[in-house]
Amino acid sequence: MSTQAPAAAPIARLRTLRSVAVRTPEAVAAAEFYEQVWGLQQVEADNGVSWLRGSGAEHHILEVRDGEANGLGKIAFSVGTPREVDEAARRLAERGIALVAEPGTLDQAGHGYGLRFADPENRLVEISCDVEAVAPRDPDGRKAVPRKLAHIVLNTVDIDAACAFYTDVLGMRISDWSEHQMAFLRVNSDHHVIAFNKAEWTSVNHMAYEMASVDHFMRGIGRLKHQGVVPLWGPGRHGPGANTFSYFADAAGLVCEYTSEVAQVQEDAWLCRVWRRTPELSDLWGTAGPPSADVRSHMAGIPDAGGWWKR
Ligand SMILES: [Fe+2]
Repeated sequence: MSTQAPAAAPIARLRTLRSVAVRTPEAVAAAEFYEQVWGLQQVEADNGVSWLRGSGAEHHILEVRDGEANGLGKIAFSVGTPREVDEAARRLAERGIALVAEPGTLDQAGHGYGLRFADPENRLVEISCDVEAVAPRDPDGRKAVPRKLAHIVLNTVDIDAACAFYTDVLGMRISDWSEHQMAFLRVNSDHHVIAFNKAEWTSVNHMAYEMASVDHFMRGIGRLKHQGVVPLWGPGRHGPGANTFSYFADAAGLVCEYTSEVAQVQEDAWLCRVWRRTPELSDLWGTAGPPSADVRSHMAGIPDAGGWWKR
């Protein structure tokens, strides 16, 4: 008989990936790129910080703020109720994980009630509820602009520790592996909202924005082409997640992706698989070819020690 203590429950039931914040010395140019080229819309700006929305219901999906070098600002997830935020604070304390912000009204555009803490690689994680509503921006759904944030891929120096933290503490599920190089994690029926990529240093690999269909996706790529912005890699369709992809560099040199049709997971029937990293599994259409040295270098970025809020 095992005498092991039962594992502690995750701190909360995460519903969605709400938004990501990035920090960059090129904050003004980057915010301009996301509004004028990429198809987001600025909701608010304050003191060098821009909050941008997609066409969906989320108040904002991207925050761009000044930083001394390119890096992650934070990752924000939603939970259902203020009580869940308070309970998460209690469970974090039980696990000995310090809060960066106690439960309370969030001091940012859209407000909401939430808390913040750091993950093992010093990335800031926020969970929140009751964020302000925004009016529909594209009611007939025709515009070839991002609807929501689809996922963020994070470079990690310890993929097993990262997966352990995000599954054990945050209750995420691993949908698939790409060998032992990438892990795809979900919080709802979308195949992944976070992926970890084994790398030499911690950094943001890229952020992906969801288009409503392959047609919207292709029209979006066309719109960018007419503005002189061409993909670093793609278009194509990935094996794990089955989503379409087209990767670009933003004005700060961070990688952003248009995607669509991410696989939907039926929770009680899904089996995690390990995908071999072969061309026919990584690029299902055979249109994209292998990633170039240039896109790989953009995706590696520069080392991001995190913990910027302490400085
Ligand atoms: Fe992606």
